[in-house]
Amino acid sequence: MQTELLCPTRDDTALARAAALLRAGEVVGIPTETVYGLGANALDETAVRKIFAAKGRPQDNPLIVHIAHLQDMPALCMDIPTAAYQLAEAFWPGPLTIILPKSTRIPYVTSGGLDTVGLRLPSHPIAREIIRLAQVPIAAPSANLSGRPSTTTAQHVLDDLAGKIPAVVEGGACTVGVESTVITLALPTPRLLRPGGITLEQLQEVLGTVDVDRALHEKISDDTRVSAPGMKYRHYAPRAPVIVVRGNPADTAQYIRTQTDCDTGILCFDECAPLFEQNSFVRTFGAAEDVHAQANQIFDRLREFDTLPVQRIFAQCPPENGLGLAVSNRIAKAAGFSIVTLTHKEGAK
Ligand code: TXA
Ligand code: MG
Repeated sequence: MQTELLCPTRDDTALARAAALLRAGEVVGIPTETVYGLGANALDETAVRKIFAAKGRPQDNPLIVHIAHLQDMPALCMDIPTAAYQLAEAFWPGPLTIILPKSTRIPYVTSGGLDTVGLRLPSHPIAREIIRLAQVPIAAPSANLSGRPSTTTAQHVLDDLAGKIPAVVEGGACTVGVESTVITLALPTPRLLRPGGITLEQLQEVLGTVDVDRALHEKISDDTRVSAPGMKYRHYAPRAPVIVVRGNPADTAQYIRTQTDCDTGILCFDECAPLFEQNSFVRTFGAAEDVHAQANQIFDRLREFDTLPVQRIFAQCPPENGLGLAVSNRIAKAAGFSIVTLTHKEGAK
């Protein structure tokens, strides 16, 4: 299959063509503000199966369902608590996925066999226009091969899925760069299942108490039942093993310097790069204090390491507050939670 690149800036019919493919039961790569998604009609089991096939995604991993208007929510879920409307009011359109008990309209193929559904109203104008034109809710996981880093440009999508899907819509680089925050309201207390573009602190401001799922901080074995099935799979991983070094930037850079060989890749903060002048495979992902830049670049850099002859990769990592929680989680997952934590030395700056 030849994969068509649909460019709305050059071709007025591009979005209508994407919507027509979706209505015809096809899958299409779509830009969103977080990452690119691989969309299909969420209500059409055959179409949704094509997503799982193209990505090589495990069948028990549920898909997020994207809508264009808040009014589309009630038909897709049940027992909607006030908290859902409070979250929608505060963060939609935007990078937040809300999990609620699903209605019978959502097929079990879409929900990965669960009785719940994750809903998201994206803010990207192209994503919203495509959903509006398609006139159906769009199931869309990140548009990468399963286990690979998510895709934040149309080229990334082509790198993973060219020949496997009929089309990708060009929408430029994604502005957030990490996926949506996933929160479930289907439990007695709201629980954060995946940190993302909306921070835990922002959620707490609206909801008060928010539990944090243990999958955020530890590796979950394959046979464990987890709240967000996607959290148990190895994820975001370049081909070479990654080792995360946590601690303050000066200490972690120093530690990494003592560990590197000629075939070691290094993912570091901008200001630490000069320390690794001797090393050929250094990639930076933003200043230590600029977590937005880090979110923006993390997947592109992880993907880039696959083009380099590295045997292992050491990575620096931001502290876990604000958007840093999401960035840190993606790096820890890329490393399969292989983490070295340096405690701050007495007297060290
Ligand atoms: O930003 C995003 O969320 C992107 C864009 C395309 O919208 N999508 C995305 O989808 O990241 P995906 O499939 O790569 O990640 C969805 C995560 C998975 O960990 C999945 O297990 C979890 O959300 N999830 C989805 N529906 C769920 C449900 N009903 N219950 C629990 N977890 C769910
Ligand atoms: Mg994904």
